[in-house]
Amino acid sequence: MSAKKITKIAVLVSGGGTNLQALIDAQTAGIIKSGEITLVVSNNPNAYALTRAENAGIATAVIPGKEYKDQNAFEAKLIETLENAGIELIVLAGFMRILSENFTARYPKRIVNVHPSLIPSFCGKGFYGLHVHEAALAYGVKVTGATVHFVNEIPDGGEIILQKSVPIRKGDTPEILQRRVMEQAEWKILPRAVELVSKELAKKS
Ligand code: GAR
Repeated sequence: MSAKKITKIAVLVSGGGTNLQALIDAQTAGIIKSGEITLVVSNNPNAYALTRAENAGIATAVIPGKEYKDQNAFEAKLIETLENAGIELIVLAGFMRILSENFTARYPKRIVNVHPSLIPSFCGKGFYGLHVHEAALAYGVKVTGATVHFVNEIPDGGEIILQKSVPIRKGDTPEILQRRVMEQAEWKILPRAVELVSKELAKKS
């Protein structure tokens, strides 16, 4: 009997890495079982997410955006890094750099992203991190949430995999709302979506 196929996952990060931590914890808990996080890539050398990866014994790579003359050169290095590690699924978990069509077209239905709103609200260019929650509060919506979706050439425009709603409460600040959206939605649906996609990819290979 042949060994069960496990999808090799890279997680791309830029900052604190709480979503990466949720993925690591889900792997330990057996929620993610069809895939394995084998590489964490950061475009920011100071990202705390790198420490989280090291603490979990996961290989890391740093590709500082500033050191590359343009997007093409940055993505060429990223592709080389992913290919050398045999990566089959790319997870954007707080990765604050938009990837070009040249990159996304190489990995159809093999890149997933977590976004801190209910797409199609508060998404696309300029909507990232705390700005998303500022915009939701400024608009006055009563419900927000998070979305995990496939990544294509349209920023935040790929097919939706999972969504979860989160209530907005009186007196919320962007920071309070961000934390609630992470705890109640992002950290739950990202690991579940990664398992769903890993399972599909493991079947195909
Ligand atoms: C998360 O809220 C994630 O959804 C968001 O940035 C935060 C990263 O936190 N991503 C975007 O806004 C992408 N458009 P983390 O580094 O602690 O996971």
